[in-house]
Amino acid sequence: MYLKQISYSNFRCLEDTKTELDRNFNLIYGKNGQGKTSFIEAVHFLATGKSFRTKKTKELFRYNRNRVTVFGKYVNKNNEENILAVDVNEERKDFYINKNKNRYIDYVGLLNIISFIPEDIEIITGNPGIRRNFFNYEISQAKKEYLKSIVDFEKILKTRNKLIKEKKTHEDIYKIYNDKFIEEGTEIIVYRREFIKKISILLNLNYRKLFDQKSELKLKYVCFLGDIERKSKDEIKEKFKENVKRKNEREKFIGYSLTGPQKDDFIFELNGRNAKSFSSQGEKKSIIFSLKISEIDMLVKEKNEYPVFIMDDIASYFDEIRKKSILDYFVNKKIQCFITSTEDLNIKGKRFIIEKGKVTEDE
Ligand SMILES: Nc1ncnc2c1ncn2[C@@H]1O[C@H](COP(=O)(O)OP(=O)(O)OP(=O)(O)O)[C@@H](O)[C@H]1O
Ligand SMILES: [Mg+2]
Repeated sequence: MYLKQISYSNFRCLEDTKTELDRNFNLIYGKNGQGKTSFIEAVHFLATGKSFRTKKTKELFRYNRNRVTVFGKYVNKNNEENILAVDVNEERKDFYINKNKNRYIDYVGLLNIISFIPEDIEIITGNPGIRRNFFNYEISQAKKEYLKSIVDFEKILKTRNKLIKEKKTHEDIYKIYNDKFIEEGTEIIVYRREFIKKISILLNLNYRKLFDQKSELKLKYVCFLGDIERKSKDEIKEKFKENVKRKNEREKFIGYSLTGPQKDDFIFELNGRNAKSFSSQGEKKSIIFSLKISEIDMLVKEKNEYPVFIMDDIASYFDEIRKKSILDYFVNKKIQCFITSTEDLNIKGKRFIIEKGKVTEDE
């Protein structure tokens, strides 16, 4: 799939405009502070309804404005054109597909997007919550059912916590929620295990191909239940039940859930060592880039469709040699990509120069 056109109004520093995009390669270049990141942030926002820079959507409103709108036209693998729009004001966020208002859950995932931004390094260096959020989003893109499980699980967990806190664990309502908690939690564990198993293989292949033939890179799912690698769904559920029983007294004492996939983590291991503690900055960046490339491979496998790829500030990541091999990688793929840079790059495709928020095609 690819994005054919984008337009926006009141989006950060960007001057309201409509831009026709290239099917393959779009370079956005300009000096610092001109709006490069904002431009690809708008692309990301159109696809996901979220920014990759902030959780506070209001920060996207141009200073002193109280509304932001982004429109886009994308073409899917069957060559059909669809129009997407996100419209946000102080009170609400609305999603439109071909001018009809839709629920977020039906909107997200239509335009698949994978982004690579300098802050992504936190997927390795940050706390487990960052990794869980990241993988939740990635698995959801490939499997819609997973998103539903996550949304349901979070509601169940909230209620379970509330019931524990209110000391109602002997009541029937708690038993109902506790069963649901184990049921939905088990689904999540199985989804996570399967996804990580698949992407870990791709990750290793891509890392070796792009950066270092001699290295061995593994991504491991660290389930709160311990080793579940070879367990069936029923066995996992049993193990989960036992775990809940064991933690029961302590939960009542502490006042919230002490067990469940909200405690899961994921580890990157480069040559047998945890990348978080042992890998260099450059290695971490290369691991994350390989991870993003592997997600593309996953989406192509699961959906038979290429996502859109956005990459912010390529120069800050890689030296000249790596930059060239990365650009070559995209040139030879059927994927649409958006890359920002402070310098002009010699590429085939459209080149946009951006100055004080004004985007102009450079011919
Ligand atoms: N909500 C907003 N409304 C108006 N301007 C904003 C808003 N948020 C940020 N800006 C400004 O937009 C400008 C462009 O920011 P942006 O991060 O897109 O630049 P950039 O081209 O990516 O720069 P760099 O090369 O330094 O990464 C900045 O000067 C910033 O202060
Ligand atoms: Mg920037």
